Amino acid sequence: MLREVKADERRVALTPDGARALASDGRTVVVETAAGEGAGFSDDEYRAAGADIAVSSREVADRAGLLLHVKEPQTSEFDLFGPHHTLFTYLHLAAAPEVVAALTASGCRAIAYESVEVDRVYPLLAPMSAVAGRLAAQSAATYLEARNGGRGVLFGGIADVPPARVLVIGAGVSGRHAAAVAAAMGAEVIVADLDETRAQAVARDIGGNTRGIASGPRVIDELAPTCDVIIGAVLLPGRAAPTVITSTTLASMPRGSVIIDIAIDQGGCVEGVRSTTHQDPIRDMGHVRVSATPNMPAAVPRTATAALTAATLPYVRALAAGWPSAIARHPELVGAVNVEGGRVVHPEVGAALGL
Ligand SMILES: NC(=O)c1ccc[n+]([C@@H]2O[C@H](COP(=O)([O-])OP(=O)(O)OC[C@H]3O[C@@H](n4cnc5c(N)ncnc54)[C@H](O)[C@@H]3O)[C@@H](O)[C@H]2O)c1
Repeated sequence: MLREVKADERRVALTPDGARALASDGRTVVVETAAGEGAGFSDDEYRAAGADIAVSSREVADRAGLLLHVKEPQTSEFDLFGPHHTLFTYLHLAAAPEVVAALTASGCRAIAYESVEVDRVYPLLAPMSAVAGRLAAQSAATYLEARNGGRGVLFGGIADVPPARVLVIGAGVSGRHAAAVAAAMGAEVIVADLDETRAQAVARDIGGNTRGIASGPRVIDELAPTCDVIIGAVLLPGRAAPTVITSTTLASMPRGSVIIDIAIDQGGCVEGVRSTTHQDPIRDMGHVRVSATPNMPAAVPRTATAALTAATLPYVRALAAGWPSAIARHPELVGAVNVEGGRVVHPEVGAALGL
């Protein structure tokens, strides 16, 4: 397992418990020194789990056939990979032609977490969407405080004083989790989705002061002036995020209200939005506070690492047993291969790259 080198990335591909599971399968587990530091896992914890600690990424690459990562390889790592390697990580190659060039030149097999799909469900993306959704709600509650430039509304209200009104647009994984946390904190929650049945089902599951509605420009324009918070959690798979909050809609929101644009990693769903960072997570768009950080789970690397390991570990154990048995156990791995034998083999990634 390699240490993450991408800026601000504190997650790691495997918890010590994950390493222990692989060691108990009889695998040699090689962990780059300090790989778990950002997520609060020490080298000693990996050692105690049965892993060897390697002094460098080069040593990991020399000793291991299966390389685990969280983010796409960075320039400093491009010469690590060879034809005998299988790399398993988030790749998002459509946005990274230089990574494509490095991986094809290496001859390795590169399998993307985000391309693992079972019946239109993406099991290795879902945990990070869940984390981002939950974070969106708890951050929104904080940003609403006056000291953060917010409206000064207590999320859950108190007796005789109504709670914050939160509109969650998108009732998929992240929207559902955002709505659940907002509702649990006592807010009034409206979940809107193009698929009204899905929005209503989510609201029913959450219960309390939550309702589900059909989304559309008219409904959002009507609701926006009454909302303390809007959380944008929309996705059109394989496409840029749709704009669901126009500048006019934004301008109609109350002063000090808050928007969290979770979909910023797909370009954002607020007209004119620009990315924020963990260091500088919120900015003003007119009189509205807007947060749009593309790698939200990096704020909670310990939880995110545990969630990621829980999702990836069955695949990692299978891959560690060799490719033929891995695809016999998890046929969906075949469709998740992005690069193999010096070529991009994933049709959508290839199309997005114009190959
Ligand atoms: N910022 C981050 O750190 C981070 C982390 C994880 C996921 N994400 C992003 O969050 C977004 C949501 O991901 P997800 O896993 O919840 O997706 P999902 O596919 O589970 O759900 C998306 C929902 O959006 C709905 N939708 C699409 N267009 C809509 C529109 N115009 N109006 C209303 N609803 C609409 C869909 O019907 C679907 O129910 C994606 O852009 C994803 O990349 C961001």
